[in-house]
Amino acid sequence: MNTTGNAKRGRVIAIDGPSGAGKSTIARGIGSRLGLLHVDSGALYRIMTLAALRASIDCNDAAAVADFCTRVDVRFVVRNGAVAYLVNGEEPGDAIRTPEINANVSPVSKVPEVRAKVNEWLHSMRALGDLVVEGRDIGSVVFPDAIARFYLDASPEARARRRHLEEVAKGMAAQSEEAVKAALRARDKIDSTRKTAPLTIADGAVVIDSTALSIDEVLAIVEEHSRAAL
Ligand code: DC
Repeated sequence: MNTTGNAKRGRVIAIDGPSGAGKSTIARGIGSRLGLLHVDSGALYRIMTLAALRASIDCNDAAAVADFCTRVDVRFVVRNGAVAYLVNGEEPGDAIRTPEINANVSPVSKVPEVRAKVNEWLHSMRALGDLVVEGRDIGSVVFPDAIARFYLDASPEARARRRHLEEVAKGMAAQSEEAVKAALRARDKIDSTRKTAPLTIADGAVVIDSTALSIDEVLAIVEEHSRAAL
């Protein structure tokens, strides 16, 4: 137990934006360039959704999800420059990236009790070191003291193309690019209009539209601003 009140608190770089904007690629890249642990907050909402589905909870029943979410137990381990998550001792892997999870994660992540639980987990990760955290509300709500914040965006077409290509590469392409785009837009709508911590551009965020930029070009912009803040 820490009795001095000097618990280690790593610094945070926040990368927010909609699905398919390239947050994971950029957060991982910046993490490895600057020696920060990569944290994927969306994966925690996906884990909540997977756990709820496995427990036969109706993801659209906010009261049932709120009651269930406090019982989900996730452990954290540092692996390959990132914080990895263990659910019942196992990493969930691609089980959290299926179309079924995509369809249910937005209603689950709307529930305030779910957001409180995920935020508690995220806050505790600061004890692990300096972090680069990707999500929707990281710079605006979860870590208002982030030392640098970015809002990564791209056109819906580019985002759907990237997500579809990722699914093809993993051999998980159950949907056409058009269907991916429709699902992504539906999620964008829920994520940006929900009452609690909607997707928004945080005050002071550097906004980057990556539609016509390469990964290296985006990394260079994020690296320059981050180095100035570290
Ligand atoms: O980044 P992602 O697509 O894996 O996120 C999955 C869902 O989780 C997304 O639809 C919205 C939600 N989410 C959120 O509400 N807040 C975050 N900080 C991260 C993700």
